[in-house]
This record gives sequence, structure tokens and C-alpha cells, in this order.
Amino acid sequence: MNNTVNSLSVNIAGVQLRNPVIAASGTFGYGREYNSIIDISLLGGICTKGLTLTPRTGNTGIRVWETPSGMMNSIGLENPGIQSFLENDLPYMRKLGPAIIANLSGAEADEYVKGAVLLNESSVDMIELNISCPNVKLGGMAFGLDPGTAAALVAAVKRVCTRKPLMIKLSPNAPSLAAVALSCIRAGADALSLVNTFKAMGIDTVSRKPIFDNISAGLSGPAIKPIALRMVWELFDTLEEMKMHVPIIGIGGITCANDALEFLMAGADAIQVGSATFANPHAMIEIINGIHDYLIDNKMPTVTEISIRTKIEG
Ligand SMILES: Cc1cc2nc3c(=O)[nH]c(=O)nc-3n(C[C@H](O)[C@H](O)[C@H](O)COP(=O)(O)O)c2cc1C
Repeated sequence: MNNTVNSLSVNIAGVQLRNPVIAASGTFGYGREYNSIIDISLLGGICTKGLTLTPRTGNTGIRVWETPSGMMNSIGLENPGIQSFLENDLPYMRKLGPAIIANLSGAEADEYVKGAVLLNESSVDMIELNISCPNVKLGGMAFGLDPGTAAALVAAVKRVCTRKPLMIKLSPNAPSLAAVALSCIRAGADALSLVNTFKAMGIDTVSRKPIFDNISAGLSGPAIKPIALRMVWELFDTLEEMKMHVPIIGIGGITCANDALEFLMAGADAIQVGSATFANPHAMIEIINGIHDYLIDNKMPTVTEISIRTKIEG
């Protein structure tokens, strides 16, 4: 692969990734569990589990549930807290090779801002602002549904996020994803990632109770791919119409190179792989190799050429 990394390389808001394949937040931990299974250095980037200022134990009860062509999760942002991440996980992650993207969450704006201050001074390459987690009662998705609320948070975080590009992770549950996206860009977003999970639920018909203590959970996996793809396609149109160009990172149900190619054709500059890694830890490596083969087969020198969308310059 060494002589091919240049052609696969993409630049996302000033951060050079060796390829456009990034491990999605919450599905790759901090890299430790997968390090003996795959060559992590081959990945383009890793998004950390959602980090909050103080440690969180996450939700009680059942946390993951398989569904036809997907899964639901209700983890509730279990994480060791940002200080512990910086001391115990980031030094380990830095040695792995891929770009490190810190996924930042919080219960209230002040918590996000304080977290961003710490991450801004750290060696992470980028911050992904999670305004789309459906599994917490306070914060998370509550910030990502309304354009005004999202913009106020993004502006507050951007003020302290002086040294790192700020990517905003959008919710497919927003009444208008386009309106939230545009307001985030106006407030200073350097890139957009979409989508987080779809709010969903299940009922155990034997106990006659909802499966999750939190009632609802987040749906991910192949079941959401066609919807996520459509959202990326439409967001590309919106950004072109408004002449507001920021990189788009496509997420949702990507399991193979063909899925990734669809997102790259739809206008995504890079992609994230989440649930697929649980079923097949080698999925991301297979996707990188598949994109590489596609470039060779189609005589394309760079990943950018995969897009079938027309960019209006200016
Ligand atoms: C178990 C699990 C935990 C997740 N935790 C987070 C998280 O902490 N922060 C976040 O922004 N997204 C989180 N997500 C959402 C994923 O990063 C991704 O956006 C979503 O699963 C859709 O991609 P997929 O269909 O490839 O899994 C989580 C998803 C799963 C399945």
C-alpha cells in the first residue's frame, strides 16, 4: 500500500489523511481492542468515543440490540472524561499513525466549551462536535435539532477552538438537516459529518416493556445507508447553492468499498465506518483497498475524482 497512499490522500479542513476512511465515534474505542486484529496505521483517521468534561458511566440496562440489517445502541456516552483521555488514551492513540479526531459532547454549552478548551491545547488533529447523540437526556442531540441552538453552541466552541479544525456531526433527526448545517457553517464549522444514528426503539413482547431503559436508542448499520446517502447528496446540493463550501464526511451503514464509493460519488470528501467494524473488524481495511482498486481500474489519480457531483467554484 505504501506507494499508493498519495493517490488516496485527502485533505479535510487542513488535516491531511492518508486515505478517506475514518473509524466512526463509539465503534472503535481508542484503538486498543483492534490493534492486534488490524493494522491500524493504514486507516485515514480515528474518531474517539464521545468525550465529556467529566467521566460518565453511560446508560443502565441493555445497551445494544441487533435489528434486521443494523443495530440499535443506547450507550449513553460512557467515557473516562477528557482529562483522563488526554493522560491515558491520547498518547497511545498518537502512536497508532492515523489522524485523531476527538468527538466532543456535553450536557450543556458550558461543558462543551470547557472540553473544547482542553482539546484545543492537546495534540488531537481535529474536534468533531457531537450535537447529535440521541441517547442522553441532556445535551447531545438536543443541540442539533434546531438551527439557532446549534449555531449558538458552534459559535461558543469555535471561539475557544483556535488551533483545531471544528467538524460538526449532524443529526438525521433534525426537522431540517440543511438548515442546521448552514447555521453551523455560518457559526464557524470547518467541516460537517453526517449522519449520527436515527432515533429508534424496540419492545420486548415477553416482558411487555421497551428494550431500552431510556426507551429510545440510536439505529445504525446498513438499514440506514440509503437514507444517509440521500442526506449527503442533498447537503452537497444545499452547500453548492449557498456557495458555502466545507468538507462533507459521509457516515451511515457503510460496510464495503462499494458503499464508500457511493458516498464519495454523492459528494462526500471522506467517510466514516461504524457498525460494520463490529461484524467485520477488517471492513475498513477492505474498504481502503477497494477504493484504491477503483482508482487504478478507472485511471483516477485522486479520490476527489470519484465524485459525480459538479462543484461550483467561488
Ligand atoms: C455502539 C455505538 C456507539 C456510538 N457512540 C457514538 C459517540 O459516542 N459519538 C458519536 O458522535 N456517535 C456515536 N455513534 C454513532 C456512529 O459514530 C455513527 O455515526 C453511526 O453509527 C452511523 O454509522 P454506521 O451506520 O456506520 O454505524 C455510535 C454508534 C454506535 C453503534
